[in-house]
Amino acid sequence: MQLDLEFVRAFFPGLSKHWALFDNAGGSVPTQAVTAGIVEYLERFGVQLGASYDLSAQAERRVRRGEEIAAELLGASPEETVVGSSTTVNLATLARALAPRIEAGDEVIVTELDHESNIGPWRGLAAHGAVIKTWAIDRERATLDLSDLEPLLSPRTRLVAFTHCANVVGEFIDVEEVVRRIRANRPDTWIVVDGVAYAPHRLVDVKALDVDAYAVSLYKIYGPHLGALYVRRELLEHAKGQNHFFFPEDALPAKLQPGGVAHELAAGLPGIGAYLDAVAERHGVRGETRREGWAHAFRLFAEHEEQLAERLLQFLREHPRVRIIGPNTSDRWMRAPTIAFVVEGMPSSQVVPPLDQHHVAVRWGHFYARRAIEALGLVRHEGIVRASMVHYNTLAEVERLVKALGQALR
Ligand SMILES: Cc1ncc(COP(=O)(O)O)c(C=O)c1O
Repeated sequence: MQLDLEFVRAFFPGLSKHWALFDNAGGSVPTQAVTAGIVEYLERFGVQLGASYDLSAQAERRVRRGEEIAAELLGASPEETVVGSSTTVNLATLARALAPRIEAGDEVIVTELDHESNIGPWRGLAAHGAVIKTWAIDRERATLDLSDLEPLLSPRTRLVAFTHCANVVGEFIDVEEVVRRIRANRPDTWIVVDGVAYAPHRLVDVKALDVDAYAVSLYKIYGPHLGALYVRRELLEHAKGQNHFFFPEDALPAKLQPGGVAHELAAGLPGIGAYLDAVAERHGVRGETRREGWAHAFRLFAEHEEQLAERLLQFLREHPRVRIIGPNTSDRWMRAPTIAFVVEGMPSSQVVPPLDQHHVAVRWGHFYARRAIEALGLVRHEGIVRASMVHYNTLAEVERLVKALGQALR
């Protein structure tokens, strides 16, 4: 069964015929029901939460419902899901909350491949006595190799932070296998995974992954500009609360939600669920649970994304001056359709602007994975060119990109 693209695209009024969007790893277009939920909230519930009057109680229910959907997307409970303004803020808050639990000599492993939001806060634990170790990039393949992690693990390993999918190269990391290796000898190690570049493409199941924390950015999953962070209950209970002193330590997840969530944005979140329901229903799936339908929708997304990736990669593989960074396969079990490359003899900053004239939206730079770009020796190219697709892109759009690239690289 193929994804009905016409049906899908009707849910995204922000998609225009004029612009073909290939900057989706930066942020996706919100689905219509998300926008409608935000507008409805602002128009009908412009009051504050927590009061005794009914309108306030109704507003609160809307916001909580949104947080519940974020949790359901992750396969977690609402008590274990912190919805905050972004992944950057959520991970920084978690790191502050764990800092008082660090003992001198505890070892913290971070990668060179991650977005800085899953490196910097953990490196900051050095100020609390942690010893920081770096899981280096395999320079040849632009990915993380499990064999490079093994020697870093020790009985003192307190935390390992790594990505499920690098936002610069789109390759999946086998989280389950990494977790198994870490837990084999050190069941108590905290494992923090950045799923931001994974979750727009596949349905996440934090329980199956057996991680302690998992971050996603909802504005890249067709939602509003918010982030959701799963934190396993035991870790959440152990963490030092970051909210006002009068919030009890067992106030989950509020203890890690200083300032709470933007109410109207949270009210938009059920729109993501409604969209996935609609896709599942359209393609004839009535699962036992809502998530079964969503899983089917994501399977259809994956198949379509593979076709999109293959068309672009075919062009890039054949171009004599192009070097693909990361895997050159479109295999959906290996990658998201986030594709990076550099052009010999042309800095990335010069590759992209000519594409703008074709109304093809691409981007270049380090994408906040600054350490990865440095480690891969790509600073001299001014970073990478990144074309990132999601399921609502069409093959016709990829053809436009290929044509525009063909002209720009002549
Ligand atoms: C892989 C990855 N991690 C983390 C982030 C940071 O997310 P946020 O913008 O929600 O802070 C991004 C943003 O682009 C990302 O791509």
